[in-house]
Parts: sequence; C-alpha cells; structure tokens
Amino acid sequence: MVRYLAGAVVVLVLISISVFVESRHDIVGDVLKLPSEVSSFFRPVADDDDSVGTRWAVLIAGSNGYWNYRHQADICHAYQLLRRGGVREENIVVFMYDDIAYDEENPRPGVIINSPHGSDVYNGVPKDYTGEDVTVDNFFAAILGNKSATTGGSGKVVDSGPNDHIFIYYSDHGGPGVLGMPTNPYMYAGDLVDVLKKKHASGTYKSLVFYLEACESGSIFEGLLPEGDLYSVAWMEDSDIHNLRTETLRQQYQQVKKRTSNDNSGWGSHVMQYGDLKLSTEELFMYMGTNPANDNFTFVEDNSLRLSSSKAVNQRDADLLHFWDKYRKAPEGSSRKIKAQKQFSEAMSHRMHLDNSIQLIGKLLFGIESGSEVLKTVRLVGEPLVDDWLCLKTLVRTFETHCGSLSQYGMKHMRSIANICNAGISKEQMSEASAQACVTFPSNPWSSVSKGFTA
Ligand SMILES: *[C@@H]1O[C@H](CO)[C@@H](O)[C@H](O)[C@H]1NC(C)=O
Ligand SMILES: *[C@@H]1O[C@H](CO)[C@@H](O)[C@H](O)[C@H]1NC(C)=O
Repeated sequence: MVRYLAGAVVVLVLISISVFVESRHDIVGDVLKLPSEVSSFFRPVADDDDSVGTRWAVLIAGSNGYWNYRHQADICHAYQLLRRGGVREENIVVFMYDDIAYDEENPRPGVIINSPHGSDVYNGVPKDYTGEDVTVDNFFAAILGNKSATTGGSGKVVDSGPNDHIFIYYSDHGGPGVLGMPTNPYMYAGDLVDVLKKKHASGTYKSLVFYLEACESGSIFEGLLPEGDLYSVAWMEDSDIHNLRTETLRQQYQQVKKRTSNDNSGWGSHVMQYGDLKLSTEELFMYMGTNPANDNFTFVEDNSLRLSSSKAVNQRDADLLHFWDKYRKAPEGSSRKIKAQKQFSEAMSHRMHLDNSIQLIGKLLFGIESGSEVLKTVRLVGEPLVDDWLCLKTLVRTFETHCGSLSQYGMKHMRSIANICNAGISKEQMSEASAQACVTFPSNPWSSVSKGFTA
C-alpha cells in the first residue's frame, strides 16, 4: 500500500505560520471549525504493524494560560484522532501544561473542546509530561528515545526501530528561529534541527513527519534542512473529515493552503513544506491512522475546510483579546474587572517596552539612520536566520538581563536579535546598549528574574 524506498530515511516537515484562528471571544462558542463528530465506529487498525512498522507520535503544546486554550486543545484533539486511528496509547507521548481543563475561566470544568459543538477531547489523554515538566530537554529526550535523559513526567519516550514511522506535532506561538514553550527556555531551531539529525543518524525510524503549527516559524527549518519548497497543514480538522487512507499529505496541504491564504487578509498564513517532497504523496494513514467511520468517504478536492465567515485573528494577540474580553464582560466595579484591566494594561505596556527597547538598541548599535534597517533585514530564502545559534541565545539572555523577558509576544523580535548577531556585535556591546536602552527593569511577571531566561 505504501511505497518506501528500501532503507530510505526521510524527514518531511510541514509548517504553518501564524495559523488561522478565529476570534477568541468565546472559546466555547464560535471558535474552531467543527471536526467530524463521527467517532462511534472505532475499529483498531492492528493488522498493519507487521508490514509497516510501529506508528509513534509526540504531541506538544508549547504554551500555557487560558488565552492559549487552542494549543492544548489541538494536542488533545490530535491524541484522540490518533487513538481512533488505532495508534496505541503507549506509542503516543503527550506534552501539555495541563492548566486549561480546570482553569477558573473554563465554563465546563474538566472538559476541553476543539470546535464549537465538539465533544470533550481531554478525557483519556495521558499526562506524560505536564506543568514544569514540559521542557525542551524532555521533548528532545522523548524524540531521541532516551528515557534516562528525562526528568519528571512518565518517562515515556519514542522507543522506535528502523521500520517505524514517527509523527511529531507541535502547536503554539513561535517567532523567527524559535518555538515557544510553557517553561523557559524556549526551543531554538538550531537545537531542534540537531536533535532531528541525531535521530536520523541513529537509524531508528523509516520516516518522520513533523507538523509545526506556529506563528512565523518558517525560519525554524530555513536553510537548516536540505531541500526547501513551500507548504503547510492545519491537519486535524482536515483529518477528521477525510479518509486518510486515500488522502495524501500533498492533498491535505493543498486544502489547507487554500484556506489559510484567507483572501490575503493581513492575518492570513503563509504555508510551507520543507524536506523530502516525495514523502508528501504517501498516505496520511501512515502517520495518523484513520478513523474507520470515514472509510467510505472519498477525497473530493473542494469538499472540506470551508472558509468560514469567522475572523482570523493574529494568534499573538490571543492574550490581549482574552484580557479585553474579560474586562468588557465583567460587572462594573467588580474585582474581576479591575484585575482584567490590570492584566491588559500590563501586557500592553510590556509590549511597548519591548518594541521600544529593541528599536533603541538598534539605533545605539548601528546609528539612528541604519538601526531599523539592520533590524528589519530578512535574509535570502535558503539562508538560516542566524549563522551562530549560540550567539543568538547569548544576546537574548543579555537583552533579557537588562530589559526583562521577551515572553511570547517578544519572540517576534528574534529576527532583529539574529541580525545583531549576524552584524558581528559582541556580547559586551549588546550588554552596554541594552543597559542604556532599558533604564528600568520590569517588575511584572515579565521580568526574567521570576521565570528565567527564554534562551
Ligand atoms: C541519554 O541521556 C544521558 C543523560 O543525558 C546521556 O548521558 C546519554 O549519553 C544519552 N544516551 C544516548 C544514547 O544518547
Ligand atoms: C461503508 O460501506 C460499506 C458497504 O456499503 C458498509 O457495509 C459499511 O458499514 C460502511 N462503513 C461505514 C463506517 O459507514
């Protein structure tokens, strides 16, 4: 059924940038599009293991906080989808902070949904790595199958062999060259690519698919993996609808690309595909299994992923929208209203503080004229974001030492800091400029003192 070159080991990376989301105004209401609710015909796909190897999955939500509901909901939904497709629980490693289901804002305690009228996707999701155990190190250890390198958590890792197929799914905010994590530090592209190369070198898989759903993350693999062509996936909705035995990654990509382009509105996404393009014609079934209830569906080019009338909102603003909505709805004079207002204005002022300090640092380092030019430079396609990833991390730490945490929002400045590295600025120069630019250190939750550095 599936054609693999003997011994071929390939990496396919599917990336979507700033994935299309709807207004967060009402999580329970009009949020994500409806997946198929047909789930009652579960039938294990047990007979495929001998011929195609074991299917493994690593699912990770890179954020926490109720305003980031969607990422953990995505992960839970992915888990259910894989299980329904017959992937065993012991072969699925789940990383989620797990602060959503019982958040006081959740109108349905203990329940997580991933579409307006969807059913609970939280029940049964294994808590392999939760809370402060959702770390970059544990994630890498899980991919590499190195149980002794994990700390906390269940110790579940991808203990794969040469005939196995691995599916990795990451959902969160990202920035150029970096993927967010609910804990510090964040995940840097250079490190992630090193881990994927190491996994490749270990010969412990036949094929690996990495689905990356995050803002502006095209840079994660740019110039770092061989071959680059463009495309992406909001795969779960799509996978719910289609019969995965017949739909290929490429078809799925085409569907999603159509949808995410979103009439070229400001918040539409760019979609990309990196890696081995031959693999995209392989059946999605290889990675996700399929929901038997969809067996009789055939793939029709335009039958899914309807462009809904919903508003696409920049994911980076999910926190602001959440605080604003909370403020708007809270009764006049209530402590809830006061708290929401405080959260909103603190988030806003930290954003302004970050934007202004980065701009000022650029001017201090490169002069009033060229400062913003250097910061805004975008390298050519095929060139990595930064030549020296260690420099990037060092300068991020230097910045955060003087100016506070970049935080989720500040990841968007990663390219500017990379450009500062590429211009040959030393740690000492950066430190001096940061100290001049940031005369006051943030005392709010965004200080790097409380949560540590993102690098
Ligand atoms: C597994 O992790 C441990 C601890 O980090 C390390 O010492 C060991 O070399 C790793 N094993 C492999 C096979 O990479
Ligand atoms: C698919 O079609 C076959 C033959 O028509 C039928 O027996 C089977 O129940 C259908 N499966 C589902 C899940 O609807």
